[in-house]
Amino acid sequence: MSNQARRILITGAGSGIGAGIAEELARAGHDLLLSDCHFESAVNTAERIVRAGGQAEARALDVTSEDSVEALRRSLAAPVEVLINNAGIQHVSRLEDFPMEKWEQLVQVMLIGVARLTRSVLPGMREQGFGRIVNIGSIHSLVASAYKSAYVSAKHGLIGFSRVLALETADTDITINTVCPTYVRTPLVDKQIADQARVHGISEDEVIDQIMLKPMPKGVFISMEELAGICAFLISPPARNITGQAIVVDGGWTVQ
Ligand SMILES: NC(=O)c1ccc[n+]([C@@H]2O[C@H](COP(=O)([O-])OP(=O)(O)OC[C@H]3O[C@@H](n4cnc5c(N)ncnc54)[C@H](O)[C@@H]3O)[C@@H](O)[C@H]2O)c1
Repeated sequence: MSNQARRILITGAGSGIGAGIAEELARAGHDLLLSDCHFESAVNTAERIVRAGGQAEARALDVTSEDSVEALRRSLAAPVEVLINNAGIQHVSRLEDFPMEKWEQLVQVMLIGVARLTRSVLPGMREQGFGRIVNIGSIHSLVASAYKSAYVSAKHGLIGFSRVLALETADTDITINTVCPTYVRTPLVDKQIADQARVHGISEDEVIDQIMLKPMPKGVFISMEELAGICAFLISPPARNITGQAIVVDGGWTVQ
């Protein structure tokens, strides 16, 4: 039941969860293709991995651009075996004040971009008869929080998208699942702490305690190691019949 080394493409791998998962999966011997719309940040992650003895290459990829996705597809020497759809952005605002171009951008990055890139790698996965797609969803794929209408809509949409794709790929050894964590301490969350403090009119410490950690019975941030371990399980042989699922990593938030 050994875990075979895989060619893994990760989006948004220049920062936070994407970079953290990449480093853990490289340590486990996988071959990483690290993409980000900020190319330099993907290069930095790849260089860290190579310096530590792992295998990684960096690519520029903006998941909102058809041309960028097509350029990445054409640059691949071999089809990817695993796609981790991780790229994401956040904007916190009540709907009436939410700029519509921002709303569209969130959905473009976290839902339409996921469909665009998945669509582009699927023929290669079908050809090689193997594929694992892991979406980084969120607790906000399952529950709502005020002032996050675009994010919650995109992340809920990801669950529906994965369910449909699970059916469309059931005829071959391809699976698609969505990992749904509560808060992970990354630059995306650090920026949000300040934004939430402003819209709620409370201090940053109160945002962490009352908004982020209080709804979760275990009351902690989720670690990179946990997320990478879950991704490693989802691409391993015992998970070959787990598809279309939300893997909820919420310390008990949704069982209350
Ligand atoms: N941090 C958390 O608490 C948390 C919790 C649940 C889910 N998530 C999800 O995890 C994912 C990663 O978040 P993070 O916290 O690591 O954020 P982050 O801001 O640290 O990293 C996000 C990365 O995505 C990249 N990106 C943004 N737009 C892109 C685009 N158009 N094309 C390609 N790359 C793009 C950014 O350049 C950045 O490197 C997101 O999907 C986020 O919604 C985060």
